[in-house]
Amino acid sequence: MKTLIDKLERYRILDREEFLELLECPSDEDANYLFERARFVKHSVYGHDVYMRGLIEFTNYCKNDCYYCGIRKSNLKADRYRLTREQILECCAMGYELGFRTFVLQGGEDMHYNDKKITDIVRSIKKNHPDCAVTLSIGEKSYESYKAYFDAGADRYLLRHETANSEHYSKLHPKAMSLKNRKECLFNLKELGYEVGCGFMVGSPCQTNECIIDDLLFIKELDPHMVGIGPYIPHNETPFADKKAGTLELTLFLLGIIRLMLPNVLLPSTTALGTIHPEGRERGILSGANVVMPNLSPVDVRKKYMLYDNKICTGDEAAECRMCLQSRIENIGYKLVVSRGDYKI
Ligand code: 5AD
Ligand code: FES
Repeated sequence: MKTLIDKLERYRILDREEFLELLECPSDEDANYLFERARFVKHSVYGHDVYMRGLIEFTNYCKNDCYYCGIRKSNLKADRYRLTREQILECCAMGYELGFRTFVLQGGEDMHYNDKKITDIVRSIKKNHPDCAVTLSIGEKSYESYKAYFDAGADRYLLRHETANSEHYSKLHPKAMSLKNRKECLFNLKELGYEVGCGFMVGSPCQTNECIIDDLLFIKELDPHMVGIGPYIPHNETPFADKKAGTLELTLFLLGIIRLMLPNVLLPSTTALGTIHPEGRERGILSGANVVMPNLSPVDVRKKYMLYDNKICTGDEAAECRMCLQSRIENIGYKLVVSRGDYKI
């Protein structure tokens, strides 16, 4: 197993059989070796800096109906909300004071926010905070829409591919959605010049090691600037309410693998990881991650953006999360930095 890990570090890729061997019940010793190599590679690019992104969940309306997601349109119990441009700008102003230099606007696929509204919001943020990066995470749009957002000043775009196995994709999503379109969106975003993030849930229903290998090979092909992975966690008002959550161990192991595949990648230690284990986010950093994305949404809407059950930090003010994360990160020997945290070439 050690030789496979060394091979992955050296060549940044393995073939399917080798990945399969790596994924088949690694021992603690194997995992710790992987994490050690992943930290070494990360330190050689980013040192001990951890970047922070302020997440603004600005709408929980969604036209899609993904079977795993708590804000799917069929969840009639979801209490829907939308933030105004002014509310979003207030979140950014507060975030700026707290040291955030990247704002991530995330929402469901909400047609209320047409291109005019999104470009307006992006332009206003860039005008108020010219030294900040704006990241959009608002789903599948046309090439023209992506271009309009980019021309308005958006720097980055997060669109998890969710699974790179088309059969698996169709088990997680209704017919209206396809892996093909998802991939097309990601390649369009890259072509337009965005820093692009893809990603997937670990342990999502029906996921096999074959699916995970498809994910890893797709990530290698896309060569994104960011990769968002976190454990699948059930939401009680979805068709997958009784499915098991993904594990901490597998998520950490995959963070380590992705770091070795893409040494320069920006890799968040996600809120979902912090939700399944009290030290999940610290463990993520120690496995190769180098980004945290605390919530900047107003506290009165936090509980409404429930993608999965028991999400952490839904009652905490942004300032509290900022301080909490800082001490967590310093405790493990890293530094939370005030920086846009751009991709290093
Ligand atoms: N558990 C974990 N992650 C989820 N997401 C959506 N629903 C869940 C869930 N139940 C993730 C998806 C999406 C991102 C914003 O949140 O991967 O892309
Ligand atoms: Fe939110 Fe710790 S990060 S309370």
